[in-house]
Amino acid sequence: MTRSDPAPARRYTGRVALITAAASGIGRGAALRLAREGATVVVWDRDQTLLDDLGGEARAEGLAIDPVSVDMMQSAAIAAAVQALIAQHGRIDVLVNNIGGSLHTAFRFLEQSEEDWDRVMAVNVTACVQTTRAVLPHMMAAGYGRIVNLGSKAGRFGSLFAGANYVASKGAMQAFTLQIAQEFGPHGITCNTLCPGAILTPRVESLLSQRKTPEERAQMLDGIPVGRHGTPEDIGAAVAFLAAEEAGFVNGATLDINGGQSMSI
Ligand SMILES: NC(=O)c1ccc[n+]([C@@H]2O[C@H](COP(=O)([O-])OP(=O)(O)OC[C@H]3O[C@@H](n4cnc5c(N)ncnc54)[C@H](O)[C@@H]3O)[C@@H](O)[C@H]2O)c1
Repeated sequence: MTRSDPAPARRYTGRVALITAAASGIGRGAALRLAREGATVVVWDRDQTLLDDLGGEARAEGLAIDPVSVDMMQSAAIAAAVQALIAQHGRIDVLVNNIGGSLHTAFRFLEQSEEDWDRVMAVNVTACVQTTRAVLPHMMAAGYGRIVNLGSKAGRFGSLFAGANYVASKGAMQAFTLQIAQEFGPHGITCNTLCPGAILTPRVESLLSQRKTPEERAQMLDGIPVGRHGTPEDIGAAVAFLAAEEAGFVNGATLDINGGQSMSI
């Protein structure tokens, strides 16, 4: 089997997944992966062009991806979108809290404003908390759920190119995971954190090219034992594992997915 030839497993037939902010980047990779394994995947994003593009790709491949326009900075919009999902699809088996990013705020802490702090916390933490709060009652009613939170290598070890606000927000998501895992495990719901290293999405590519010299980038790559950066497909494969029914004994875990880079920093 080659890397472009994903596992033929269809672990998600009959399952409905919600992946937030997923019309591009890591979320898109996860959406395609779960849909190829048989899931109906609801994708939220605020960028209509990207949603249309994903919808087109899904139709061409015969995948059940439902792209929905949601601006997740509005808590009422999040609650309404969950209600609409339930009305249309009847269930939510999987939630991937993917929304996040450093919003290109300054790398150096003393150059970050209070507003930079608040905006990054709103995207990385508050939007995920609000989504989780809206989804959990439906999972509890079904007695089943899989929640995957996107942490980061940054939240575990600090970051080479994103600042303290982003690092703290990702640490918060990892801690949030632990309590959700404890509190809702008895309801058949698991919650785990995925912590990717640098995945060369357009956002990260532009951050790296602005903040690192070519020599520093080569040095970063040297620090990754597998000798490459990660891809959305790498993360999609890990999401597909943690969100599968068969992973029901994995709860409150943190999965580092960085090619071994964390061993060399
Ligand atoms: N890319 C990486 O290297 C990396 C590494 C570790 C962790 N992560 C985490 O993985 C997740 C995905 O990262 P990515 O690099 O794929 O993201 P990305 O920057 O590529 O963004 C994904 C999508 O978010 C959408 N979005 C932004 N704000 C939104 C809003 N208010 N409402 C709805 N949609 C919105 C954008 O339109 C975009 O399509 C994030 O939580 C990120 O912190 C990424």
